[in-house]
Amino acid sequence: MPRKKIIALGGDGVGPEVMEVACYILEKAGYALDILKPLCGSEAFQARGNAFPDEAKKLCEESDAILFGAAEGPSVAILVYLRWSMDNYINLRPVKYYPGALSPLKNPEGIDFLLIRENSEGMYPGREGDIPWLAQKMSDYKDPFGRTLDFYGEGKFAIRLITRKGTDRIAKYAVDLARERKSQGFAGKVTCITKSNVLRQSCGFFQKTVEEAVKKSTEIAYEHFHVDDAARRLIRFPRDFDVIVTSNMFGDILADEAGEMVGGLGIAPSACLGGRKPYFEPVHGSAPDIAGQGIVNPTAMILSAKMMLDYLGMKEEALGLEAAVARVYQEKKYLTPDQGGKATTRQFAEAVLKAIK
Ligand code: NAD
Ligand code: IPM
Ligand code: MN
Repeated sequence: MPRKKIIALGGDGVGPEVMEVACYILEKAGYALDILKPLCGSEAFQARGNAFPDEAKKLCEESDAILFGAAEGPSVAILVYLRWSMDNYINLRPVKYYPGALSPLKNPEGIDFLLIRENSEGMYPGREGDIPWLAQKMSDYKDPFGRTLDFYGEGKFAIRLITRKGTDRIAKYAVDLARERKSQGFAGKVTCITKSNVLRQSCGFFQKTVEEAVKKSTEIAYEHFHVDDAARRLIRFPRDFDVIVTSNMFGDILADEAGEMVGGLGIAPSACLGGRKPYFEPVHGSAPDIAGQGIVNPTAMILSAKMMLDYLGMKEEALGLEAAVARVYQEKKYLTPDQGGKATTRQFAEAVLKAIK
């Protein structure tokens, strides 16, 4: 297999810290990757006045895959480019318990499902404005109380877009993934999560579209829950889920909840797929409260890199890296403070590297 070209963008806060050790592991493990690390984030912003300079963008466009740490402030521009300019409409967030991880649940054993978050529309990227302006544009619109919008006076609105194109493609991805999971011995079930009892049109459309996509495939089981009920079920019946599909902001919120169930944000990885170039990032953000202390848990970044290896067809390497992480959790000797341990970020990474070899 030819060597793959990877672009590593640390971003800000703990992003560069988790990126540094993840790249260290990938390089020392001897995988067939050439990892380039262009200047980005606040460092680039200070030096060039741009958190995501054109050279870095060009490298991303020419790469096989991108690793991203975390965004904060100006470096949100990196995330915006990787998600929207690249059109990575799938945000795949696996939720899997590794024994030894510090879950708040009494019995987290066997939790293993995939959360698919629509990544391109819904409440994102934030389409907002003044109500009086909208009231003027939509002077003949009447809300469920029969009121025109000028009734509400001063205030703000946000627009939520659920499109045919955006919903069809994420529904198809969910069904294909459930089918693939079934062939691997999982349940082969799609759980659609909406708030269609209130957002009858937009969520109703999302729900109906997913239902229709599932119907085309006889092998796949299906269920739908409203997001409030789903938030509760995740905690009460975490082993009942296989493939969850939901719209952008519900997915954002549920991913943090689900990540916490299996040990916290320090562990939760993700992949953003479907666009020009895939990118892989932890679910967590820049964690300003612990940045610069050398104690951030790099597992989410390392498992995101594992997802990248999988994507690149480096299946054995992916399995080896995941098994190494799992072993370090099982042994509980080199876990970071968020997992109740005393290890530094670097000590955890060294333990993972040692477990690979
Ligand atoms: P956060 O995910 O950064 O942190 C939430 C909590 O989890 C904090 O207490 C933090 O210390 C802890 N935590 C997160 N990752 C951890 C890790 N790897 N190891 C140990 N503990 C960890 O969320 P926030 O505080 O709401 O956001 C901080 C900033 O990050 C904001 O600017 C937000 O917009 C941004 N953000 C970026 C991304 C991204 O780049 N994809 C994701 C979420 C938030
Ligand atoms: C995430 C983050 C982002 C989101 C923010 C930083 C825009 O929370 O990746 O989960 O809301 O999608
Ligand atoms: Mn989030």
